[in-house]
Formats: sequence, C-alpha cells, structure tokens
Amino acid sequence: MDALRAAGHTVHLVEATDELPHWFLTHRVDLVFNIAEGLHGEHRESQVPAILESLGVPFTGSGSITLALALDKAKAKQILSSEGIPTPRWQLFPNARTPLNPQLEFPLIVKPNREGSSKGIWRESVVGDEAALRRQVAAVHARYHQEALVEEFIDGVELTAGVIGEEALPILEIDFAPCQASAEFFYSWRMKEFQGNAAMGLVPTLHCPARLPASTVAAVRGIARRAHRALGCVDLSRTDIRLRADGTPFVLEVNPLPGLSPWDSNFPVMTAAAGISHEALIQRIVALAMGRYAQYARRVVRATVPPPEPLPAGVLAASQAAP
Ligand SMILES: Nc1ncnc2c1ncn2[C@@H]1O[C@H](COP(=O)(O)OP(=O)(O)OP(=O)(O)O)[C@@H](O)[C@H]1O
Ligand SMILES: [Mg+2]
Repeated sequence: MDALRAAGHTVHLVEATDELPHWFLTHRVDLVFNIAEGLHGEHRESQVPAILESLGVPFTGSGSITLALALDKAKAKQILSSEGIPTPRWQLFPNARTPLNPQLEFPLIVKPNREGSSKGIWRESVVGDEAALRRQVAAVHARYHQEALVEEFIDGVELTAGVIGEEALPILEIDFAPCQASAEFFYSWRMKEFQGNAAMGLVPTLHCPARLPASTVAAVRGIARRAHRALGCVDLSRTDIRLRADGTPFVLEVNPLPGLSPWDSNFPVMTAAAGISHEALIQRIVALAMGRYAQYARRVVRATVPPPEPLPAGVLAASQAAP
C-alpha cells in the first residue's frame, strides 16, 4: 500500500470477502492491485479475478483461467508437458485404492494437488517404498480432502525463476546444505514457516543470481518464460524448478500470484538482484497492467468500429447510419 501511495495513487484496501462484488458495484476504481488468494473452494485464487472480469474492473496480474489452472498442479503439468517443458513424472491419487503406476521410480514425493506455501509437504512426504507412499497419500486425503499428487523426487539444486513483463529475472537458488540438523533438504512447510531458525536447522542460504554456468542460466530462464506463457500468465510469475544433476531443469509448478512481501517473499529477492527497488517493482506491475488494458481497449474499439466500406458510386453516405 505504501509503495502505491508513494507513487501518488489513492489506495483503498478491499478484503476478498463475500461483500467484494457489492463493493465494486458501489465504488469506481481505475485498477485493482490483486494479491487475493481468494474466498474458498478448489478454485479460490481465480475467484477475485473472475468477479473483477465479470464487472469489467481492470486488475494486475493473471486472469481467472490462469489462476485456476496454476492452483491445480496436475492440470498445469499436463499443459507444461504438452508444450515440451520438462516436469517430474507424476500420477494423481484421487482415492486410496488407485494402483501405483509401475513406471514411476522411487523416491517419490506426495503432496496435495491444490495447495500452496508447501502445505502438506513434510520430511515424510518423500517416500522410498509403496507402504510409505500409501501412508502419505492417506494423510493428504484425510487432512486436505483432495487428490494427492505423487511425483518423482528430483534430487538436485532448488531454483525459483521470476518473470516480469516479458523479462526473466536473475534466478534465485535456495541451498539447503546448511540444514543438516533438520535433514530437510527441500522447501517443506516447516522450512517456509520457520525459515532462519537455526535451532530447528531450517537455515537455507539464498544465492541470487544462482551459482550456475551461463548456459544453464539461459536454459532455466528460457524454461521460466515458456512456462509463464504456457499457462497464460501476464505481468509476473514465479516458476519453481529443480535442476537435475544432468542439467535438466524440471518445472515443479508456476505461481502466477507470487508473494511480494519485501521481508520474506522470494520474488522481491530476484527483482532486488535486478536492481529494481520494492517501490519500482510495484509501480512496474501497475504500469504493465495499465498498458495491457490500454492495448485491449484499443483492440476493442478497432474490433467494434470497422473502417467504413468504400461506397459504390451513387449511394448516399447517409444510408450507412441505418439501422
Ligand atoms: N518433484 C519434486 N522433486 C523435488 N522436490 C520437490 C518436488 N516437488 C516438490 N518439491 C519440494 O517441495 C517444495 C514445494 O513444492 P511445490 O512448489 O510443488 O509446492 P507449493 O506448496 O505449491 O509451493 P509454493 O509455496 O511455492 O506455492 C518445492 O519447492 C521443493 O523443494
Ligand atoms: Mg512452490
């Protein structure tokens, strides 16, 4: 809010509650800076954009289809695969009796299909045999009441790659080597919730730019831009990637609504490394959204008011007005 006010905007904080449609029916705004994770249900992140789209209110960031798709990891992975973007091999477990696809190779990781912030991802989520897999699938069903997504665990370097506009940011590497005390070498829920707690051994080191050879940097940034486009993201996105030892970057998921907190989100770490201050980042997002809507308005005008047809000789121009 401060960054928006500093840029001279009048800002209202509007909570994403059931009252939201009424608020926008009774107040006029130029643009919504959308950070809402939604109301409820399985497509929650897409609900505020869907309401704004239906009311014709411009907003920053991706639209309802992209947000619904990205929150469904399996659906997003289908799209990534169809675009030739590497993503770990996977299987959905809608219920406890689903037979395990024998083509999947252990170790596997079990996670809820439609959560974020590593909810439901614990150290025990990485499993080495079918008995442990079944226990974790049951735990996801019992706790999150949704399908469990089972993926091959990519034992490699953890990266996250931001895109703003069309530009790929410096890549952020999260090094879990200093986490020996917890033995959690991936972004578990505990790791995100208690990051920096040395007593718990949850002290990953962030490197931005990532410590990678130039060719890998180019490949990872290219993958992030392709993933962004494949899911139809606009303005910004953050793609989580695991780099296998052979150099293949596997996309775990795409976040079209990345956290922007200057204190504890990863996206601002990447923009800071690109020399973009927090205020400049917020203003850039506003400018990107305004630019999109301006372009859209021009397209609509062009589409609805076609240039006049040349008149055949002898017909009065006034006849064009009817009906
Ligand atoms: N297939 C995998 N191989 C290796 N590690 C994985 C895999 N899937 C998930 N992880 C680990 O778990 C973390 C969280 O997974 P993922 O990004 O899919 O969940 P999320 O809850 O949607 O995350 P976010 O908080 O970014 O929304 C990853 O950052 C990674 O450390
Ligand atoms: Mg993630």
